[in-house]
Amino acid sequence: MRSLDEFALGKLAALEHAGLRRRPVETARAGIWVEREGRRLLSFSCNDYLNLSGHPAVVAAAVAAAERYGSGAGASRLVTGNHPLYAELETRLAQFKETEAACVFGSGYLANSGIIPALVGSDDLILVDELSHACINAGAKLSGAVLHRYRHTDVAHVEALLEAHRSRHVRALIATDGVFSMDGDLAPLGALSRLAARFDTWLLADDAHGFGVVGRDGRGSAFINGGVDVPLQMGTLSKAVGGYGGYLCASSAVVELMRNRARTFVYSTGLPPAVVAAAIAALDIIADEPDYVAQPLRKARLFARALNLPAAQSAIVPIIVGEAEAALAASAALAEDGFLVVAIRPPTVPAGTARLRFAFTAQHPDAEIARLAEAVRDRVPGLAS
Ligand SMILES: Cc1ncc(COP(=O)(O)O)c(C=O)c1O
Repeated sequence: MRSLDEFALGKLAALEHAGLRRRPVETARAGIWVEREGRRLLSFSCNDYLNLSGHPAVVAAAVAAAERYGSGAGASRLVTGNHPLYAELETRLAQFKETEAACVFGSGYLANSGIIPALVGSDDLILVDELSHACINAGAKLSGAVLHRYRHTDVAHVEALLEAHRSRHVRALIATDGVFSMDGDLAPLGALSRLAARFDTWLLADDAHGFGVVGRDGRGSAFINGGVDVPLQMGTLSKAVGGYGGYLCASSAVVELMRNRARTFVYSTGLPPAVVAAAIAALDIIADEPDYVAQPLRKARLFARALNLPAAQSAIVPIIVGEAEAALAASAALAEDGFLVVAIRPPTVPAGTARLRFAFTAQHPDAEIARLAEAVRDRVPGLAS
């Protein structure tokens, strides 16, 4: 099909021209180190915030599960894919998040793509923070609900939108990242929760980057400052938990609805047993070791302090550089000093806000963080002091 290849090549040429073409780079990870293009680099670009993906107990649990149950689930969970490890994982998640129940999906992306359309439809309203993750937007679009994007963390804008539109819709949902994936800041969940109560609106927080890092002993962004009522606590098992999969922690009724109506739950194969077993072992460590769980945030704060940046609110610290080419150049310069800090470019972030995104993990040595800050001061335009 000539037209098909012409279409693909044309799109790729446009991306190349704008400095936005991407290529997966082969990366072999070993703890905080990576091997890439013949170089060994200290990585500040992994979301494995607690370094649990390589923890011996987590790996051993995965191996044992694969040996016992095989490499795949074999079918969707409503057919024969609901292997015995699922119930244990969902019970532990609900306990840790202090909700009645939990429901595990194939990934975080699949979770939001399934949860949101199971809750709202064409009669309904959905308000989404403009910097929310792509999968919240995907779920919102799939739902067919009337979608308004509100200015980033702007509670007054949410209030104005609810005042203007809420009464015209049957149901309404506010959906936001709890910790913003590319900015590392926090959603104003307390204020959003109060608005949600006032306007009979539901609240979903995606805690992909909060779980295992922020809030009371790593319980997530709904557990900061004494806690906030967030009835839909969604997250992923792919970051601090170190594996793969997504979840929703919510009431028993909502979770039961997901098991019946969330299309990405119903029509997608269950996670491999090894992945579920690894998550259970990782959750044990998170629940048992609060001092360890506190480390990524402590490390991020150390780095931010060294560069006189605003205090880090999560394990993510962005330095906005501007144009995509400048971010790529800054990333390449840091690689010269032995650090991997991947440049984040549009469309992942808005045009003109390409950045270096630093992700801190429990095992980054303080001395290396100091050396990184020094390198950033030397290498990143506008930061020299
Ligand atoms: C905020 C947020 N939500 C959801 C996801 C998707 O999760 P997963 O990687 O498990 O699909 C990510 C990142 O990948 C994320 O940053």
